[in-house]
Amino acid sequence: MAAADQIKSLIKSFGKGDEARFFATAMQIAASEARKGHSTFAKELKSLIDQAKSERTSALFEKEKVVSITRSKRELDELIEVIHPRIKLVDMVLPKQIESLLNRVVAEHRSFEQLSKHGLSPRRKLLLEGPPGCGKTMTTHALAGELGLSVFVVRLDGLISKFMGESIAKLRIIFDAMQSYKAVYLFDEFDSIGAKRNQGSDVGEIRRVLNSFLINIEKDTSSSLIIAATNLPDTLDSALFRRFDDIIEYPMPSQEDIIQVLKKHLRSFKMAGSMSLDELAEHLIGNSFAEIVRACEEAIKEMIISNNKTVSEKHVQNFLISRKRTEQ
Ligand SMILES: Nc1ncnc2c1ncn2[C@@H]1O[C@H](COP(=O)(O)OP(=O)(O)O)[C@@H](O)[C@H]1O
Ligand SMILES: [Mg+2]
Repeated sequence: MAAADQIKSLIKSFGKGDEARFFATAMQIAASEARKGHSTFAKELKSLIDQAKSERTSALFEKEKVVSITRSKRELDELIEVIHPRIKLVDMVLPKQIESLLNRVVAEHRSFEQLSKHGLSPRRKLLLEGPPGCGKTMTTHALAGELGLSVFVVRLDGLISKFMGESIAKLRIIFDAMQSYKAVYLFDEFDSIGAKRNQGSDVGEIRRVLNSFLINIEKDTSSSLIIAATNLPDTLDSALFRRFDDIIEYPMPSQEDIIQVLKKHLRSFKMAGSMSLDELAEHLIGNSFAEIVRACEEAIKEMIISNNKTVSEKHVQNFLISRKRTEQ
């Protein structure tokens, strides 16, 4: 049986709505049962805790449903934005290599229990790098969609405080949350804290945050997924790379990828003119996935507004050309 202190602590933390403490105590009980040789009961407890954690995660973060707000929960709210994505990996156009790696991440997560029985942990820490609009954020959403988890987007601007030491305490809150709320944690535009430690002068606090990030990510043994994404991988501190299980480089779309994007987005519409998708795709090389998706949407809008029955490939192209001109 659990020690009297542990039961008291469970009840107290429940009363205060202190979930982190509640789950920590429950884990302690499971650990002490395991030490006593009650391994079946200990495992049962551990899986009940995991299940309860993931159920609480989505419930707690639907703000209107929050009944008691603890101090750390309030602080956490200021540091993260919660998203509940519905998309899946099949909604993306991905090079084979990346696709199989991401499927592997999903498969390992689905076998979390079996892997941990053998002392193995699934891939959980990913660094995504590549040009803007090529699927880094979308990947985070798709992984969450596959695993039925929420995405917790870390607000990096909220993290960096001008008060010394405060940022590190805030980072700690996020890493603690990874234990209590199983989710996909996204550090987007990660270069803003992950830049080389010897760069710049007025970056003392950022350097401390990076050091603290390195320590925290190394120590983290939660079951959450941690994803850092950056458009500027060359600026990242080299100490970061070995902290991640996988580093995934997102390329600009190839002609073949562009054809697939066009098919996905223009599928239900008839095309005007005589240009084949191959030709259209060839003209679009050099644009990111995001730009091509946007151009398709603009061309569809144009079709609807002008009461046409077909999407004009010229509009798809023209939108991108006119955008480029205004950006120059
Ligand atoms: N690999 C992809 N397959 C399909 N659509 C994509 C892909 N990458 C980007 N997109 C489209 O571009 C939009 C923006 O992509 P995003 O993932 O936010 O880019 P970033 O790499 O800058 O994070 C997505 O919402 C989606 O519509
Ligand atoms: Mg992004």
